[in-house]
Amino acid sequence: MKNDKIIGPRAYINLDRCRSNLIAIKKTVGDKKLLCVVKANGYGHGSVKIAKSIANIKNVQFAVFSFDEALELRKAKIKNEILVFSKLQKNNIELAYKENIILNLSSFDDIEHIESFYLKNKVSPKYHLKFDTGMTRLGFDLNDAEAIYESLSKPLHPYVEGVYTHFATADEGDLSYAKKQLSDFKMVVRKVERFGLKFKFIHCSNSGAVLNLEKSYFNMVRVGMLLYGALPSNEVIDNIGIKPVMSFCGSIVNVRKVKKNTPVSYGGVYKTASDTNIAVIQTGFADGFPRPWFEQGYVIYNGQKFKIAGRVCMDQLMVDFGNVVPGLGDDVLFFGENQIGKLPVENIADQINSTPYVLFTAVGGRTKLIYIN
Ligand SMILES: Cc1ncc(COP(=O)(O)O)c(C=O)c1O
Repeated sequence: MKNDKIIGPRAYINLDRCRSNLIAIKKTVGDKKLLCVVKANGYGHGSVKIAKSIANIKNVQFAVFSFDEALELRKAKIKNEILVFSKLQKNNIELAYKENIILNLSSFDDIEHIESFYLKNKVSPKYHLKFDTGMTRLGFDLNDAEAIYESLSKPLHPYVEGVYTHFATADEGDLSYAKKQLSDFKMVVRKVERFGLKFKFIHCSNSGAVLNLEKSYFNMVRVGMLLYGALPSNEVIDNIGIKPVMSFCGSIVNVRKVKKNTPVSYGGVYKTASDTNIAVIQTGFADGFPRPWFEQGYVIYNGQKFKIAGRVCMDQLMVDFGNVVPGLGDDVLFFGENQIGKLPVENIADQINSTPYVLFTAVGGRTKLIYIN
């Protein structure tokens, strides 16, 4: 192995695929605004790079969770609109105004904070109103719709940009709960007309709803997972043609021959079934490798599956290569799709009772993000 060969965990991020996923979403939803969700470092893919790769596509806006995530995009010179999902924090209002960051209003104290900022400064940041239709998370109570519209003083009306809600089950086979959420949301949106307020953007469709619930598109969809080329759950099918953006890999740093019945890794729970080649891969659970996957799991090398041997360690894992002697310094693929082969992140998520959201956002530690295309 050449000493200068990069070793260790790497996530290759294919930005062309991100763009083509967005085009596929556009084809499905038509001429809607696309609120692209790049929170949590772009679901582990790198928020700035992801955002920059699609910023110039027509109708693209961004959503993040924290105010700091929005500032990071602004610092990177991203000019598109940015909505922050988190609970409004009074001390961010001024900077939100200066940086044109759109705030989330989800309770009466949020309205009070924004009103008092307006009274002092005669300006306000833009904001979206969030209703809770069934997530039981942030959001105004549906029954308060009239009181909310009433309590927003006239001078604040021009700053209202949007209204939204979030589905709890739009990625499930049974859509009855999502449909109830949708009809409740429509009802609160309709009520606004009597109060002289107007919403420029109305949105509730996440990835599940984009695939499952066409009637929820309104004039904006708010999409994360599909952008990254994975399905939000195993109850929806890919009817739009997405491709995985991330290929998570690690490199082989050691190969050795061991005898039949040799215990491998902590606890010795894995014993070799015959004389075999055991490789050490430099990636562990501290880098985002899903530890529970070792029980049934495998990695891909030259298009073929090889069983993970024993418990995944913090920094390394072992793989049973049987008769094959893999090359030192070569990559194995943990999930994704590249020249090595293909292993959908959804398959691992299913097997270990997790989700692609958890698996993507876990990728970190010493993992280097490497951008291609
Ligand atoms: C408020 C909100 N909207 C949209 C999304 C995007 O969801 P998805 O990645 O399923 O498209 C999320 C993600 O968790 C969210 O919290």
